[in-house]
Amino acid sequence: MNFLEPFESLSPAPFETSWRSPSNIALVKYWGKKGHQLPANPSLSMTLKNCFTETRVCFEVGHANPGVELLLDGVRQEKFALKIESYLRSLTSMPWLKKVHCVVETRNTFPHGTGIASSASGLSAFALGLTDYLFFLSGVKVDFFRTASYLSRLASGSACRSVYGGFVSWGGDSDLYASPVSVHPDFTHLRDSVLVVSSDEKTVSSTAGHGRMSDHFYAETRFLQARANYARTVAALSAGDFTEVGNMLETEALSLHAMMLTAPSAFTLLKPNTLAAIDIIWAFRRETHLPLYFTLDAGPNLHLIYPESYEHKIRTFIAHELSPLAVKVIDDECGEGPVKC
Ligand code: DP6
Repeated sequence: MNFLEPFESLSPAPFETSWRSPSNIALVKYWGKKGHQLPANPSLSMTLKNCFTETRVCFEVGHANPGVELLLDGVRQEKFALKIESYLRSLTSMPWLKKVHCVVETRNTFPHGTGIASSASGLSAFALGLTDYLFFLSGVKVDFFRTASYLSRLASGSACRSVYGGFVSWGGDSDLYASPVSVHPDFTHLRDSVLVVSSDEKTVSSTAGHGRMSDHFYAETRFLQARANYARTVAALSAGDFTEVGNMLETEALSLHAMMLTAPSAFTLLKPNTLAAIDIIWAFRRETHLPLYFTLDAGPNLHLIYPESYEHKIRTFIAHELSPLAVKVIDDECGEGPVKC
């Protein structure tokens, strides 16, 4: 199916829209691509609640030199503006977009460099605004979020999962867009406290990291493992089996970082305090049998995942034992997805 076909030959008109879109944390990791922005394996994430981006986009016509102007927290950001501009130029099936000037005003509720994916929230918020514009110009009325997910994926893979709340898969039903996953009610308020052990700029970006999977000795085995972990995680989420979900979370996080360590051009994003925190979490689980598990994105910061019902005990443990290893802890939870604002 060609998702962009109804939008190929539209006449641009002025339009303004504003979206709030959350970040997400992958339980099963997307790491490695095939073709253009297609995942080498299925992935599955939990959408966050408090960590989101709010983006207003003004689409203007008749501009002498159309392009993208972008303000992040009121400050002009050339790098992000160029990223959006090259994304729009890559949508070549909609050549009329070249005539449209975009003014983007955006803000995040979380600081940069905290291990919370601002590309997932930021690019999905922009893609939702763009989808709104395409639907306005074309009069199309169906599959809004599917189209937004398709367009988000072309900007950043993980962003395609942020257009839905709860738990979301990509590459299970389709590689082209993400879909919501139904889960046991126990999971709908799952907690995620982000232990920010370092907020330094990453030495290797996610996009570059995906590239290192293309000639990786373990690539095919990793993709097989991810497919198996995806199936097990979907089943455990549906059955309400938190122990199995927790084991999958940690296996996926450690496999992701093992791929970086064993890449032909090896690198690591882990810091000494990441490993120190993992040791403390494992000891805590051995001693207390409380359900606290971690996951990692492509960075050193741990996402600490636990059920709502253990919030008090686990937050006390985090405050006493783990926060001394961190520059900051950000408490979040499973959220309901984007809203137009
Ligand atoms: C480790 O979505 O940031 O967070 O498609 O190149 O923009 P691009 O990559 P990106 O990769 C995310 C990788 C990950 C795992 C995940 O979110 O599934």
